[in-house]
Amino acid sequence: MKNRHVTIRSAEPCIITVEQHILQEQRRHSPHATGSFSWLLSGITLATKMTEARVRRAGLLDVLGKAGNVNVQGEEQQKLDIYADEALVHCLGVRENVAVIASEENEEAIMFDGREGTGKYVVVFDPLDGSSNIDVNVSVGTIFSILELPPNLSSSDDASVACLQPGVKQLAAGYVVYGSSTIMVYTTGHGVHGFTLDPSFGAYVLSHENIRIPEQGSYYSSNDAYWDAFPQPYRDYIMHLRSGAMGRQYGLRYIGSLVADFHRTLLRGGIFLYPPTEKHPSGKLRLLYEANPVAFIAEQAGGFASDGTRPIMEIEPTEIHQRTPLIVGGKSEMKAFEEFVQPVGSTQAK
Ligand code: AHG
Ligand code: MN
Ligand code: MN
Repeated sequence: MKNRHVTIRSAEPCIITVEQHILQEQRRHSPHATGSFSWLLSGITLATKMTEARVRRAGLLDVLGKAGNVNVQGEEQQKLDIYADEALVHCLGVRENVAVIASEENEEAIMFDGREGTGKYVVVFDPLDGSSNIDVNVSVGTIFSILELPPNLSSSDDASVACLQPGVKQLAAGYVVYGSSTIMVYTTGHGVHGFTLDPSFGAYVLSHENIRIPEQGSYYSSNDAYWDAFPQPYRDYIMHLRSGAMGRQYGLRYIGSLVADFHRTLLRGGIFLYPPTEKHPSGKLRLLYEANPVAFIAEQAGGFASDGTRPIMEIEPTEIHQRTPLIVGGKSEMKAFEEFVQPVGSTQAK
């Protein structure tokens, strides 16, 4: 039988899907990779495609508006919050290598039956970030962080113990922003890569390889409605940005969805700040499934992330829904931030 040499003349330019990319990354950096991680990631990509389909048709389905209950955060749950959460719980639940999950929408972490011995991973996530924007057609997203299951966990242990690891222990982190296009951005510690969902064949295709956050941007992003509640050093820093002292006039962009505000900061540079306020003295954003994944991605792209006193990823968590101030951005904005707010030398922004 003569071997046929097959040349695939794809109608599409060379496409690399996120699953292929993960597998290539794993084989490049851990040659004995079993594909277990890409199996896990395929659960996340599937769940986000399910959510994306609902987000795209939100006005046509009965998914807009409030679900009529309040989540553990004390926040009104939107119907799409619940749908996105259920999609992730289902898709991760059928992946036997996931032992524990924790979600912004569920008070307790979940340990899947019998997996304390066989599972390898912990996944913590914000199933739908920016919920208040759903009904007005503004970008929302999903944020996730993947940790290794600690050894010797027993089924009687509280599953949240497995989640309480500092951000430096993350194996991977990523987000999907359901915006004018749907883009997944992730890192496994070897750079940051972005994939655009091609709706014509439902795959996330590599579109932004090796994303680097610009040294300096032109936007800062904070909810200045809380100006009077910001600690004075934060106000001094923002006035410094506005004054042109950084060599350019900064504009303000604030969408109210962390995932969208951060995605713009990652691609265009600048800085995002959610300082401590009277209403949220320890900040509003959640450490495990908002600040840590964003911090991992920012640092992998050459930026920094701080809670105003230390690097976000050094914080030792004490409970799964704990909140933190979050300041994240490019090198020059974070260095200037350190001079105004943070004790000098307390972060890596050298
Ligand atoms: P979520 O919808 O998951 O609760 O997150 C909303 C968060 C975050 O996305 C955004 O940056 C912040 O809330 C906006 O808060 P303010 O409305 O207080 O500015
Ligand atoms: Mn959120
Ligand atoms: Mn949310």
